[in-house]
Amino acid sequence: MDGGLPSDGSGMFHGIVLAGALLLVPAVSLAAPGSDVAERLATLSKLVQDPHPRVRLEALRALAKIPGSRSVELALGVLEQPMDPTLDYALWLTINELSETWIAALESGAWKPEGREKQLAFALKAIRPEQASRVLGRVLKERALPRDGSGPWIELIGQAGGPAELGALLRQTAAGGFDDAATARALASLGEAARIRKVRPEGDPRGALDLLKSGDAGVRAAALRLSGDWKTPPTAEVLGRLAADPSEPVRATVFEVIRLQGTAGLPLLKALAESTDPATRRRAALTWASVDLPGAGPALLAAVQALPDDQTAQDFWRALLSIKGSGKQVAALLPSSGIPGAAARTGMRVAREGGRNDVDLVLALARGAGLSTDNQAFTGQLIREMAAKAAASGDPHRGELVYRRSDLACVTCHAIGGAGGRVGPDMTSIGASAQPDYLVESLLMPNAKVKEGYHGVVVETKDGQTLSGTVVRESGSELVLRGTANQEIVLAKSNIESRNQASASLMPAGLLDPLSETEQLDLVAFLSRLGKPGEFDASKGGVARKWRLANVVHTDQQNGQADWMWKKPLQDKRWTEVFSRVNGDLTRTLMETATKANIWSSKIAVLAVTEVQLAQPGTVRFRLAATQGTELWVDGSKVDGPVALGAGTHRVLVRIDPNHIPDKIRLETQDAAFVLN
Ligand code: HEC
Repeated sequence: MDGGLPSDGSGMFHGIVLAGALLLVPAVSLAAPGSDVAERLATLSKLVQDPHPRVRLEALRALAKIPGSRSVELALGVLEQPMDPTLDYALWLTINELSETWIAALESGAWKPEGREKQLAFALKAIRPEQASRVLGRVLKERALPRDGSGPWIELIGQAGGPAELGALLRQTAAGGFDDAATARALASLGEAARIRKVRPEGDPRGALDLLKSGDAGVRAAALRLSGDWKTPPTAEVLGRLAADPSEPVRATVFEVIRLQGTAGLPLLKALAESTDPATRRRAALTWASVDLPGAGPALLAAVQALPDDQTAQDFWRALLSIKGSGKQVAALLPSSGIPGAAARTGMRVAREGGRNDVDLVLALARGAGLSTDNQAFTGQLIREMAAKAAASGDPHRGELVYRRSDLACVTCHAIGGAGGRVGPDMTSIGASAQPDYLVESLLMPNAKVKEGYHGVVVETKDGQTLSGTVVRESGSELVLRGTANQEIVLAKSNIESRNQASASLMPAGLLDPLSETEQLDLVAFLSRLGKPGEFDASKGGVARKWRLANVVHTDQQNGQADWMWKKPLQDKRWTEVFSRVNGDLTRTLMETATKANIWSSKIAVLAVTEVQLAQPGTVRFRLAATQGTELWVDGSKVDGPVALGAGTHRVLVRIDPNHIPDKIRLETQDAAFVLN
């Protein structure tokens, strides 16, 4: 959460008092500008980077009282450090108060946006819409956007532009002024403006919708999505055809667009529910359920009986249970036998996650598949016994592998050393700070004690969805939740019907049910070592924990795609995300699993990338612990020694010879921060 306490607690106290004091004497500086202001800015420039967030917060508020480009620069610089909702709000206020100062600094060139995209985006959202539109209009008037859409402008226009800026973006898009990737981004940006802020571009919108015929799947999907956001969907015939599109994102978007049409889409959904393709039938049933739950019953049941694997089942149940009121209704629908065990077990887990406890559904699923409900209360005695057994015979190394199992999803919700999800508390030092009994209880009965600050909220939307998660941030117009799959969910406030605190923990009960006793004990042993000195201490940092792996294959060169590894966004599905072990090693087994060991032979290289961030330009020394056969590259160039890097984010790549996969790779530096989120 925060950057941790500085070693010297009194230093922090001193910082708060000092920043607070500077806040209390603003008038003097205005009356007598000069050295006094310079001195205070110098002090604040340190305080605003203090390791303790409370000090940063006080410094931010003090900066708001000293209008000037330096104050703006210092304030926005806070974004390069970890944020929390309070700091976020303080920065928002500060920029809001300094808005004209910031705009002037931007226009005079005293504050440059290059390399500060995050800061720019924040500032544009913090100022009033008409100010943002003015800034964007002025910056953009000078030139059309680059063809490859480089820079932050496309997204910024969607987040802050008015009808005129959106109209210019639309014209450039419709006129073929962007390459395919940038075209898709522009369409998404226009959609976001319509969905979240209800702002539409001036001018004729049809050009964008013609892009449904594009040869590029990303563009087709984005144009389709936009037609939904603008509430001008294509005809049922076109939608039916797109439901069989070769591209998965296009097929998925078809159903989103049909859902937005409400009951008008029912005839098409009924037809699609009879499709020969099982995934289409599943989607049609789910979309049907979101429009007309009782009517969708038979189609849903058929889909449950045909769920092919755990991942599909999990996605299916999550989608189904996010429909308002679905738990009870589906429970009533389920037959008392004939539900496949695996599908039922996954359903039971999902029915208990996200602060939801659909007791009816859990019971109906258990009955239908002949399973026990495992709903027994765990006594204090049993908990103490299990903790003692884990201490005596649990193996933390094996336990780490249990923790990483994807079906348990611990990693999706929890981080260790900052790597992992943020739905639940960070586990870095849980073993050092919590008693084993407490750990066992947290695992067996997540609802017994819900940790402070991790209560979930359950939001019902006007268009019939029930969503749960923790609040990431909120503004006057939008609420951003972190859902149980660690994804951010952006909701327009105007679409929210009700909002309540979740009655149960976001962590699902019954998580340990599929584990053997040995596996359970190993897991507890692992958790109880976390943060204690030794191999399970991830508190120090300075080592890469989040990697993305990909293969370079022969066809990349043939297709003239030799530099995709520097260009493809890290979210692209070509990269597979893996976390290193708690000790910081990315082991051979992890690499082989992530890159599919069986096709080593057809690869030119295996790539492992991570990112580092610098607040100020500086020289960075990397230490790569790996046997021969690896090369270290930064931002497109091979490096052998220290590298000079500018402020901002840099891509660091380890190129591995597929014929000499090292037993592990481990990348360290003390000169820059590894990016985790
Ligand atoms: C869907 C998200 C989710 C999943 C999956 C999940 N957790 Fe949690 N976990 C949470 C949340 C949220 C909390 C805090 C609320 C609470 O105390 O119940 C929590 C709390 C905990 C705590 C108590 C932490 C404390 O500081 O009090 C432990 C220990 C824990 N989880 C371990 C695990 C393990 C091990 C797994 C995998 C077997 C796991 N969790 C899976 C969301 C999740």
